[in-house]
Amino acid sequence: MLPSIETLGLVNLQREEIRANPYPFYEKLRIHDPIHWDEEMGFWVLTRYDDIASLYTDDRFSRAQGLMRNFERLPETQQQIAQPVYHSFSKTLFYSDPPQHTHLRSLMNHAFTPRYVERLRPYIQDTVNQLLDTSNHEMDIIRDLAYPLPVMVIAELIGLPASDRPKFKAWSDDLFAILGTVKHKPQHLLERAAQSLGEMTEYIKDLARKRRDNMGEDLLSILLSVSDGDGCPVPHHTSGRLVRESQSASMLTEDELVANINILLSTGHETTTHLIGNGLLALMEHPDQMRLLKEQPELLGSAIDEILRYDNPVQITYRSALEDAEIKGKTIRKGDLVNTILGSADRDPERFNNPNQFDITRDEGRHLSFGLGIHYCIGAPLVKLEAEIAFETILRRFPHLALKSDILEWQEHPIFRGLKKLWVKL
Ligand code: HEM
Repeated sequence: MLPSIETLGLVNLQREEIRANPYPFYEKLRIHDPIHWDEEMGFWVLTRYDDIASLYTDDRFSRAQGLMRNFERLPETQQQIAQPVYHSFSKTLFYSDPPQHTHLRSLMNHAFTPRYVERLRPYIQDTVNQLLDTSNHEMDIIRDLAYPLPVMVIAELIGLPASDRPKFKAWSDDLFAILGTVKHKPQHLLERAAQSLGEMTEYIKDLARKRRDNMGEDLLSILLSVSDGDGCPVPHHTSGRLVRESQSASMLTEDELVANINILLSTGHETTTHLIGNGLLALMEHPDQMRLLKEQPELLGSAIDEILRYDNPVQITYRSALEDAEIKGKTIRKGDLVNTILGSADRDPERFNNPNQFDITRDEGRHLSFGLGIHYCIGAPLVKLEAEIAFETILRRFPHLALKSDILEWQEHPIFRGLKKLWVKL
């Protein structure tokens, strides 16, 4: 049952039946209170496409301050535990504002152009083939393909040794678990995140030191080679001593290097896992669209965009107001947190015709699933390549793919949307 208009708080997303299908709940918010103050959670909630798109390009709203406000909302004991994690997050392009963001983004962009990412095609194809080879008459798509694939790919992109993958998979899962703006984060999750960050940081620092003597074409090498001319962009240890800090605006500090590698690891895999899971589910639940895609494989690109629009793995992101700002008659006060529901924006009937219909031929322009403006997802070309190879290979090899059970369990994460398991018959 949907909540009444008086109780439209995001706490409802913790209810299992709403988590299973949050779209009618979003619709209610969008119609009755599109700029909603959530008293219980202590933040604003925006649900309309136009309002969210405007906010993303409005420099009165900040990512960096959003992170800071999120931290300040934690009880003091939790702040002490989580401080190193939030400090590290603040060094990333994900959680920074210009000019720091502009600087970091220009350094990281090199490794995410479609041309650079395309180099990974053979590796991704081989990995998908191998993962699917182990399957028999049935498989859990999440466990057997969608979960291992992205972590292997992001590790290959960064240049992390294959043998260490289980280790950093566990670390990045721990960091991923605490993203989002809920006020009360379970203490054990914060403790695990802090512990994992410490271990991950030591690991990346050590790897960076070794990589400097053996540079390749991976992201770590690219970031290490971004320097002011002497080839030594990050401070490093000589005789056990930290020898230098960043000396020019074109260089990354060691903290920034480690933090940004960490954030790529933690944001870069589970999102893609859920794209593959949510996408195959949508196709299996809409046999006419599945058939159309098999008959016209050239629709794959637009099918991936439709999957992202229809059931986005990233449902919510946030900003904080740097000054008092009025939106459609409501005043967002300086410092207020504003949650933006992308899953709702992409189903807004003011923007998309028949938004609840899954239509892989849809040609209505940009969805907001990768964001908009300066923080637009840097991983988008990689995600699209991975999804393209995964969907093409599965549908070619298993043309009779079908859901094994109608009972689906969704993850409990407050901002990401994806299945715990997806059992299929092959
Ligand atoms: C289906 C998969 C994915 C979705 C739906 C997605 C979605 C998003 C969204 C909505 C944002 C903007 C956040 C905001 O403005 O508040 C974003 C930013 C970002 N994403 Fe993704 N993402 C995905 C996969 C990835 C992958 C695979 C990577 C890394 C390899 C990645 C790395 C990033 C980074 C670093 C940013 C911050 C960019 C910046 O602030 O300039 N994402 N993503």
